[in-house]
Amino acid sequence: MRSAVIAGIGSYLPPTLVTNDDLAARLDTSDEWIRTRTGMAVRHVVDPGDATSDLAVEAGRRALASAGGGGADALILATTTPDHQVPPTAPEIATRLGLGTLAAFDLSAACAGFLYGLTCASGLIATGAAERVLLIGADAFTTMVDPDDRGTVVLFGDAAGAVLLRAGAADEPGAVAMPVLGSDGSLADLIKVPAGGSRSRSSGPPSKQPDPGDVYFTMNGRETFRHAVRRMSEASREAVTRAGWDLTGVDRLAAHQANSRILAAVADELGFEPERQLSNIAEVGNTAAASLPTLLAHSAADGSLRAGHRVLLTAFGGGLSWGAATLTWPDVTVG
Ligand code: COA
Repeated sequence: MRSAVIAGIGSYLPPTLVTNDDLAARLDTSDEWIRTRTGMAVRHVVDPGDATSDLAVEAGRRALASAGGGGADALILATTTPDHQVPPTAPEIATRLGLGTLAAFDLSAACAGFLYGLTCASGLIATGAAERVLLIGADAFTTMVDPDDRGTVVLFGDAAGAVLLRAGAADEPGAVAMPVLGSDGSLADLIKVPAGGSRSRSSGPPSKQPDPGDVYFTMNGRETFRHAVRRMSEASREAVTRAGWDLTGVDRLAAHQANSRILAAVADELGFEPERQLSNIAEVGNTAAASLPTLLAHSAADGSLRAGHRVLLTAFGGGLSWGAATLTWPDVTVG
């Protein structure tokens, strides 16, 4: 069976920075609290008027360049912050990238979106529906969090990361082994934006406006923490077993950059010492669907991830939804 093989990678961070001290200047928080509870020091944020597609186009352009040029015949945008509810954002990105009238769609699986996207891309390639798939994970979560809620605003940054996947063989470097995916809708309320969807719009008379606060992102941080550690650890073990590897033979753990304490707990559970963990959380924060591809791009660029490394990817987010996947890192130049 044909596999999806990573042939190019790129990422993009918007230039505007928000430091912990910037947040502490207007909220009841501190650099020390944010660093010790989350591991974050700074996050990149979109400027007013900019949106997810603006980040995604740049990351997509860089991934295509990294793959040595050429187009794609499918584009998947993993995001929770599309530019609009209608239309989907992926077709506009395709047009702006000059990719023509290819298959293009949005995929909503919160912070696990990149892993769900890898699975979809693998399926498109395995069935012959596509030869080259551009998979972009992009989110502008800062457009969704309450700027006055110290419990959430400190956690998120905006970013996009992308990979170009081509058809290849399962034993090639860069081939994505079939990921492990899971979900638990009984815990949907742990991470939620109450308003904006059909549930809130269909309740009450048309004149009834949603509670202004309901348009913002809400999260039960403590419960989310617990489930994130459990689900990423379990999915990781399963993915490694499926690959025929064992955890001690994994060279790099690339986990969704949600929070340094979650990352430490997952690494502890799986037995990964710091040298085998990739991290960019201090510089970018939690960038949702962009987290994993951005982490891979940054790590490959700074040399902490190298060709031949056996990599374990794992992510967790709203839904709840989660996943894990394995691959051997290919010889690619970051775009
Ligand atoms: N600065 C200072 N104090 C803060 C704060 C901030 N930015 N945010 C919350 N607090 C306060 C709370 O108000 C609370 O005060 P209280 O005891 O007076 O009520 C106290 O800190 C503890 O709050 P709590 O939410 O229990 O803290 P915590 O230790 O659980 O840390 C998170 C909060 C959000 C950092 C943590 O729960 C977390 O990381 N959860 C997972 C989040 C995540 O990764 N989600 C995405 C998954 S994809």
